[in-house]
Amino acid sequence: MKEFSSNDKIIKDHYKTQAEKHKDGALSTMEDPITRKKEVNLITHFFNLPAVKKNTQKVLEIGCGNAYTLNILQPAFPNIHFTGLDFSEDLLEIARTRNLPNVSFEQGDVRELKYADESFDAIYTERCIINLLTWEEQQQGLLEMKRVLKKRGYLLFIESFTEGYDTLNIARNELGLDSIPMPHHNNYFDKAIFEPWISEGFEIVDPEDLGAGPYDVARNFMSTHYFTARVLHPLITKGDPHMKNTELVKFFSFMPPSGNYSPIEAYVLRKK
Ligand SMILES: C[S@@+](CC[C@H](N)C(=O)[O-])C[C@H]1O[C@@H](n2cnc3c(N)ncnc32)[C@H](O)[C@@H]1O
Repeated sequence: MKEFSSNDKIIKDHYKTQAEKHKDGALSTMEDPITRKKEVNLITHFFNLPAVKKNTQKVLEIGCGNAYTLNILQPAFPNIHFTGLDFSEDLLEIARTRNLPNVSFEQGDVRELKYADESFDAIYTERCIINLLTWEEQQQGLLEMKRVLKKRGYLLFIESFTEGYDTLNIARNELGLDSIPMPHHNNYFDKAIFEPWISEGFEIVDPEDLGAGPYDVARNFMSTHYFTARVLHPLITKGDPHMKNTELVKFFSFMPPSGNYSPIEAYVLRKK
């Protein structure tokens, strides 16, 4: 059995707690229902893009958690065979109880995938690679995903970046609110390092070139929601940072994304 580093223990322990607390609930790994909904909508739009749909039969989700997302995607795309891979046996145990047709669940580590080269037509991640706590390990994960992805296959990379995180905290500080600390189990990407590095193996694709509407698969899809829920809302309510699903927050969640005030962003990458 593989030895886990202390970082791996932080991740395993965190997701064990999530499994115990939320079981198969929607708030597992993200206690913000609007963020959840926006992520799933974006992933659904992505797989519905004609350029993606026509070549996509085998899809890998890296870090499928309790399969909240797969539970929505599978009925929407019954002809796709999905593989949900996760590091946490506690979350996978819950995922398997969903008995989803045409979905396989496997325990594994993105840094060391057990699939043959070019096994998948598309891969997506949802706040998973930020759990690798060093840039070196993140590079390892990215190289493994590239290896198992077919040539010209897509990687939908929904991860967190320091840029939007910093702007969000600047907005909060200007208004007298404290900075939101980076979660202990996350290491956000620095675009100045990420973009040149990723461009060696992948093209960074503009989803509108694939036929997406301007807001369907927007890179900054979460920005307006984060600004509302994490700046405006605590300001108006004099500091309750945890009320992420009020009517005020819901109202602004219908607005198009604006600016760059969320760490979470969506990159569409195509393997060269
Ligand atoms: C934020 S959660 C994603 C949740 C999932 N997409 C869902 O719909 O609920 C990130 C997931 O990545 C998994 N993970 C963390 N490190 C990993 C690794 N090295 N390899 C594979 N999965 C990993 C975690 O166990 C966790 O389930």
